[in-house]
Amino acid sequence: MIPVCRVEDLPEGESVRIEIDGVTPVIAVFHAEGGYYALDDTCSHQDAALSDGWVEGCFVECPLHAALFDLRTGAPACLPARRPVRTHEVSVLDGMIHVRPAVREEAVA
Ligand code: FES
Repeated sequence: MIPVCRVEDLPEGESVRIEIDGVTPVIAVFHAEGGYYALDDTCSHQDAALSDGWVEGCFVECPLHAALFDLRTGAPACLPARRPVRTHEVSVLDGMIHVRPAVREEAVA
């Protein structure tokens, strides 16, 4: 697990980008609806950073063309995005948020 930040440093409705050696794209961690969620930061439609978007409930709105992604699943909830973004496991240990980057399927094959 990779440490991200302390819980008090990520207020509700906010996000933080984390760059991890060897992991692309960059991961964004969100605090929404009392939980923490991690997604690939790059929108599946074009090259926009979801961490620059707006959190609404358990969704983030892409700042470029307003596609909504479910923070729990990475699934798009509306066009123009059609493909999901990858999700990553998040846990909180001793007040510190951690993320476990998902393994790319092509890296496993
Ligand atoms: S870049 Fe995200 S919806 Fe177009």
